[in-house]
Amino acid sequence: MSTQSVQVSHEFFPVATMRHAYLMCPPRFYDVNYVINPWMTGNLHATSSARALEQWRSLYHALRGIADVMLLEPQSGLPDMVFTANAGLEHNGIVILSSFRHIERQPEENFFRRWFSSRGYTIIELPREISFEGEGDALFSNDRSLLWAGYGMRTTKESHAFLSRSLNIEVVSLHLVDPRFYHLDTCFAPLADGYILYYPPAFGTASLARIEDYYPMAKRIPVSEEDACNFACNAINLDRTILLNNVSEKLRERLETAGFQMISLALDEFLKAGGAAKCLVMELNHPAIPMGKT
Ligand code: ARG
Repeated sequence: MSTQSVQVSHEFFPVATMRHAYLMCPPRFYDVNYVINPWMTGNLHATSSARALEQWRSLYHALRGIADVMLLEPQSGLPDMVFTANAGLEHNGIVILSSFRHIERQPEENFFRRWFSSRGYTIIELPREISFEGEGDALFSNDRSLLWAGYGMRTTKESHAFLSRSLNIEVVSLHLVDPRFYHLDTCFAPLADGYILYYPPAFGTASLARIEDYYPMAKRIPVSEEDACNFACNAINLDRTILLNNVSEKLRERLETAGFQMISLALDEFLKAGGAAKCLVMELNHPAIPMGKT
C-alpha cells in the first residue's frame, strides 16, 4: 500500500454504531519544519519520510485489525496534520473543533472543519483567542461520564467551561506543568476497566490529587520518567488492547498483569515532533460510516 493508494472516501455520515472508529491522516508531508514543543528542538528536518510512512502504516494496519479507520487527505505545508488527535473532540455527533494556540498549526483547522462538516457532524467553534487542541487535551473517563481536560501549555482553561456547556458533561481541569508533556494525552491515558496510565510529575499538585482521588490506588499505573519520555502514556486503548510506542519490560509486565494485551510499535519518527500512537488518531465515538449500511 502506498499512501497515494489509500482511498479517502467522501460519502460518510455519522451514525452511532458499536464498532469503534478513528480518524488518521497519512504522513505524506510530515516533517519537523518549526519548533513549538521541546521535542522538536534539534530535530528540524531530521525526520525520514520513508521510516515515518512505514511506522505510520504499522499503526494503521494494527488499528484496522480492531476498529474502523477513516482517512483525511494530508496537505502540503502542514506537517503536523498527521496528529489528528488535535483535529477536535467528538461526542455524540458534535465536534468541538480545535483552535490552535500556535499560528503554525492554525491553517489545519480549515481542513478539519471541511472533513467533519462534509460528513454531517455538528461543528462547534471557539473564539480564536481561546485555545483548545482537541483530544490531545481532552480525554473521556472510561465510562464517558466525565471529561478530563488539560490546560497550561496549549489549551486555555477558559475553554473547559465551553466544553462542559457544549457537550453537557462534567469537565475536570488538569494543570500541566512540564513542557515536555504539553498535551494531556502525552501523560494521561484512561484505560478500560477503570485503570489510569499516567506520569504523576506532569501535573500540578491539586490536579494530581484530583486524579488520585478519582482512581483508587489499585487502578493507578504510574510510569517512570523514561517510559513517559518514550510516550508510554500516549496509548490507544480499545477494550483490552493497547497500542503504543515501545516501552520498558517492567511497564509491559504491569499492563499485562492488569489484563491488557499490548501491541508495541516503533514510532520514534513521530517522537521527533512530540507525538506517538495516540496523537496520530482521533477517536470517533459516532463514527462516520457509509450511508446505506445501517
Ligand atoms: N508537533 C505537534 C505539536 O506540537 C505534535 C502534536 C502531538 N499531538 C498530541 N495529541 N499530543 O502540536
